Amino acid sequence: MLTQANSKLADIIAEQEAIFVKRQPGSAALAERAAGVLAGGVTSSWQITQPQPVWLSHGAGSKVYDADGNEYVDLHGGYGAALAGHAHPAIVAAVRAQVERGTHFAQPTENAIAVAGELARRWGLPRWRFANSGTEATMDAVHLMRSYTGRDLIIKVEGGYHGHHDSVQVSVMPDEAEAGPRDRPASVPSSSGIPAAITALTLVAQFNDLAGVARLLDEHPGQVAGMIVEPVMMNAGIIPPAGGYLAGLRDLLHSHGALLTFDEVKTGLTVGPGGVTRQSGVTPDLVCLAKSLGGGVAVAAIGGTLALMDHVASGGYEMVGTFNGNPLAMAAARAMLTEVATDEAYRRIESLRQRAAAGIGGAIKEFSLNGSVVTAGAKGCVVFSPEAVRDYRGFLAVDDSLSHAHWLFQHNGGVFLPPWGKIEQWLISVQHDEADIDRLVANFRTFAAAIRE
Ligand SMILES: Cc1ncc(COP(=O)(O)O)c(C=O)c1O
Repeated sequence: MLTQANSKLADIIAEQEAIFVKRQPGSAALAERAAGVLAGGVTSSWQITQPQPVWLSHGAGSKVYDADGNEYVDLHGGYGAALAGHAHPAIVAAVRAQVERGTHFAQPTENAIAVAGELARRWGLPRWRFANSGTEATMDAVHLMRSYTGRDLIIKVEGGYHGHHDSVQVSVMPDEAEAGPRDRPASVPSSSGIPAAITALTLVAQFNDLAGVARLLDEHPGQVAGMIVEPVMMNAGIIPPAGGYLAGLRDLLHSHGALLTFDEVKTGLTVGPGGVTRQSGVTPDLVCLAKSLGGGVAVAAIGGTLALMDHVASGGYEMVGTFNGNPLAMAAARAMLTEVATDEAYRRIESLRQRAAAGIGGAIKEFSLNGSVVTAGAKGCVVFSPEAVRDYRGFLAVDDSLSHAHWLFQHNGGVFLPPWGKIEQWLISVQHDEADIDRLVANFRTFAAAIRE
């Protein structure tokens, strides 16, 4: 049974979904055509959104345009990959120049040295390799931790997403009923097609719970290769690490002969020039980057300590891939690092971050909403929960319907936030401006007023 408040919210959502569909007949027509040739009518399952997928025609600067010609301030950012915004002149020039010189050789090109050198400077890890997606980067990191230590078990955080390979498709979004006790979470397969034998090799701890990791290490002496963790947890809104958590993890793992990987696929260049690694001063054994690194071109990177990367160099672990370090990706990444993600760009983003946080935070107070705005550099989200969220179990209490209603109001008001309500975060690009953020805040106020009426 819906409570009165919930039934009012359901009406608001129905009304907003009707507006959404009415604005986008072109997307509906494309979705119908696509259903005949694309599984589920989309190119990745996460493009299936309610009330219908949004088909885009193009992007320019801070904006994207849908198949019906509607303009949006793009804060979706292609799930956190568009820190450069769209068609950034430096990326366009670099890609155009490389396209004319060939896009694939499977032999190294000089740009790879420049990119690796800049990543080494920013992340404080001396050796790098490249891949094509976040999934490939975290898969290589897990393999490398296992290969170097000769151990099979890994630890991941409940609610953490690290891509779609078997070892990390565990307890990504488990139902509370099957997730086990909060302080002893179970290893729950997150997808069909993942063998139970592989799921059993991934142990699960809560984010911000050092004692949980210590217990797993004690219970499996000499068997844990390492832990993979997002140093600021995203894919669950944004959950910051508690003071001492990251350094504590590193020390704890090392004291058991195990390794630490930071998955900075999302946080990477978006929270600051050297990711959470540089901000926290905690350098892990391995770092994974992807998403924003290529300025919109598919690329990933794995950085590591000398010990681990010498293991790769000597053939102890074969880190391979036809398209690894391909010239197009390297040209784009070089432009991204040297011309786009500059100190000046980060200063601008910081002032836009403050503007968004103040505007939305102010509205939350004014309309007495149960929630808060949480930001990390260019990333931010509204968390509809009375309590600060510390881990996945706290995240489960965040209100889904309010998050979806907020997304719809933003969309209908010309701001494209990432779909999937409470899970995702906005991304401010280097091409956004004050007017873009003001549109975000104005839509939030319209939403807040509607649910408070
Ligand atoms: C933290 C994190 N790691 C890894 C991945 C996987 O990246 P990709 O989708 O490029 O394979 C994602 C994707 O959302 C992510 O958010």
